[in-house]
Amino acid sequence: MSATSDFIYEFIAGSSARTLLLLHGTGGNEHDLLPLGRELDATASLISPRGRVLENGMPRFFRRLAEGVFDEEDLQFRAHELADFILAAAERHQLDAKQIVAIGYSNGANIAAGLMLLRPEILRAAVLLRPMVPLVPDAPPDLGGVWVYIAAGNQDPIVPVENTQRLVKQLRDAGAQVTASVANAGHALTQDEIAAAETWLGEIAL
Ligand code: MLT
Repeated sequence: MSATSDFIYEFIAGSSARTLLLLHGTGGNEHDLLPLGRELDATASLISPRGRVLENGMPRFFRRLAEGVFDEEDLQFRAHELADFILAAAERHQLDAKQIVAIGYSNGANIAAGLMLLRPEILRAAVLLRPMVPLVPDAPPDLGGVWVYIAAGNQDPIVPVENTQRLVKQLRDAGAQVTASVANAGHALTQDEIAAAETWLGEIAL
């Protein structure tokens, strides 16, 4: 366990220039996505912060007012806080800041999308698992050169698939290269989706 800018996080050095930024779902922690990160990329460094907001004791990356209704002011603050953490951690661990790829699940996918919309320079790519539109920024960002993989579930009780489709359009309109998939699944991921994300990650050239 380490702490930079007050984030508790795990860091595992890899043998390639790529770093996966692992962002857990509501109630998760910095340990949750380490196995998934390693499954997705055998050689990348892994950096996995714990969300700093607590909802009834459950860590999250930003506050919400109700399920699917976000506290936008807090979301903006937290996205910038996370962006600054990533920059500081990249320096501390001597990571290539141009090869940071977010892997976010649920609330972690939403903060990753918020990060792309508010601080488009931070992430080179992102795998967003069960994401929704986090917010609509005042000015659309320039996401040219940014790669995004989105995985939705057509029976997800938390994230309506139409909402994920709006996010796909929002990111494409901003210039990102988006690959989107809709699985016959709920909020939990299937092994096929993980395999598809792994293949996509292996094919993008950063
Ligand atoms: C969120 O709050 O980010 C989404 O509703 C997903 C979740 O339940 O965490």
